[in-house]
Amino acid sequence: YEVEWDADAADKGGWSSFMAKEITEQPEAVANTVRGRVSAGTVEIPELAALGAERLQTIDRVIIIGCGTASYAGMIGAYAIEQWARIPVEVQLSHEFRYRDPVLTDRTMVISVSQSGETMDTLMAVKYAIEHGAVTVSVCNSQSATIPRESDAAVYTHAGPEVAVASTKAFTAQITALYLIGLHLGRVRGTIDAQTQADAVQQFELLPEKLREAVESHDQIAQLAHWMADSRSVLFLGRHVGYPTALEGALKLKEIAYIHAEGFAAGELKHGPIALIDHGQPVFVLVPSPRTAPLMHSKVVSNIQEIRARGARVIAVVEKGDTSVLPYADDVIRLPLADVFFEPLLQVIPLQWFALELSTAKGLDVDQPRNLAKSVTVE
Ligand code: G6P
Repeated sequence: YEVEWDADAADKGGWSSFMAKEITEQPEAVANTVRGRVSAGTVEIPELAALGAERLQTIDRVIIIGCGTASYAGMIGAYAIEQWARIPVEVQLSHEFRYRDPVLTDRTMVISVSQSGETMDTLMAVKYAIEHGAVTVSVCNSQSATIPRESDAAVYTHAGPEVAVASTKAFTAQITALYLIGLHLGRVRGTIDAQTQADAVQQFELLPEKLREAVESHDQIAQLAHWMADSRSVLFLGRHVGYPTALEGALKLKEIAYIHAEGFAAGELKHGPIALIDHGQPVFVLVPSPRTAPLMHSKVVSNIQEIRARGARVIAVVEKGDTSVLPYADDVIRLPLADVFFEPLLQVIPLQWFALELSTAKGLDVDQPRNLAKSVTVE
């Protein structure tokens, strides 16, 4: 019995690609982001605490910047930071930021999100923010990269090295880091009560196990991808934090399967995109929980009915036990129960698998897509 030794395969831990390996590493990645920042039901990020509570209390505006996947993590984080810290939060693409001559003061916090910490567009935006007196916080994965070194505070995600060009575990870790920042700010500013903080902390504790279950959606997704390998276009719909999640699902598909894909806010459908729906058009719909977000849930179910009536092939991503979509969905992907803010972390996993499986079905190089670099160090 001879074992063939393949150094490349060893690095991939037996997986066919780095991306596959990194998707499965998300439970540990997220646990590592949380570690050392949570105790006794409260969130305390030492790197933020070092800025001084008074400085954090005076912040009156947060701008999150990033490119690609990092910008979508920023969009998701923005909902939570605004909700918990009661500060207006906006998200801008790093390369658009400085050209709009943004209004920045010493009360503005600019949070940059970058896996590599070397993306030139984001670095230049951070430098602009520093020059204009803003407080800069870096959410970064690579230790000692340029952006965290330049920033006032660095909140590392500790997701471990990400090799595949298409970002997976860095994305879920970035969302986690942004949520922790929102909870820290909320506590220091007195805008969230102890119970809300404790509930969120509990969600973080339960998350790795739920992520593990979401990773198991692989086999079902592989079958789906098999019959969809010839798709020319795939659409993704979501509402609230499901909207940036839909954008990320579409980006993954463009990046590694070279398929035209778009993400939409479900409510925007009737204002234009519904015209795209034709017979057999595949649409992934991220369905919010009927328990914790009943209003959003019923709106999304109506959206499903609207597109189904026009011939869409609906792949519904739901929480386990939600049977309301069964009459209208062609496929149903079931995920563990989680509070609204924690749903994107689970929902994105089947979307990551889907892009990977379609890329594989088309015989493409999953880890090294054409024309793309892991870190873009030019403007
Ligand atoms: C490149 C990669 C993307 C990534 C983006 C931001 O375009 O191909 O996958 O999302 O850069 O990278 P960063 O390192 O700043 O998170």
